[in-house]
Amino acid sequence: MPLEHYFTNNTNLKSEIRTLTYSYKNTPFEFFSDNGVFAKNKIDYASKLLVETFIENHKEVAKQSTLLDVGCGYGFLGIVAGKILNINIELVDINKRALHLCERNIKLNEVKGKAYESNAYECVKNKYEYIITNPPIRAGKNTVLEILKGAKNHLLDNGELWFVINKDQGAKSTEKLLKECYNVEVLAKSKGFYVFRAKIN
Ligand SMILES: C[S@@+](CC[C@H](N)C(=O)[O-])C[C@H]1O[C@@H](n2cnc3c(N)ncnc32)[C@H](O)[C@@H]1O
Repeated sequence: MPLEHYFTNNTNLKSEIRTLTYSYKNTPFEFFSDNGVFAKNKIDYASKLLVETFIENHKEVAKQSTLLDVGCGYGFLGIVAGKILNINIELVDINKRALHLCERNIKLNEVKGKAYESNAYECVKNKYEYIITNPPIRAGKNTVLEILKGAKNHLLDNGELWFVINKDQGAKSTEKLLKECYNVEVLAKSKGFYVFRAKIN
């Protein structure tokens, strides 16, 4: 029996929909989750740290700003950022079950946006002010770098890539590699997780 990862499309996996809750200050959110998706039982700590740091650094954003959530899972990052900042979001993943949940969560939380299938940026046509990702470490370094380095082709001028990585999962070596194409800063550190903002040089 091969090891199942959260990013594999296993349609045989029994569905057991559950609802997870989260609040950003006084704004409540609900997320449908299921077996076979990342953080199925509990919103991920690193994802919370990332989105909260992102929001705290973007108190005033232009209304027409757009954000892309890469490897969106059930949509936590994009949906929270989109709702709090009142901006348009797009969300992509390769996991069909996660995308289906994400579509339902977009409606449930009344945000402006769409979710669609894409392997990294393969089906992404637009450019964005913001790209946000909690990258799929377990998919391997090549995929992580494809997502992080590939962001520069989908950022508008002055656009920003935001991501989170644990120090035990290569935060420092990834930062070093990304410095070849971005100005990279650490905006938060907690429990071994680093939140990075990368801007094109
Ligand atoms: C660490 S999880 C983060 C999920 C969600 N953003 C969150 O914060 O809860 C990484 C996500 O990346 C997705 N993924 C894996 N490989 C991918 C690829 N090549 N292209 C797009 N998404 C991918 C996985 O299916 C998973 O949903």
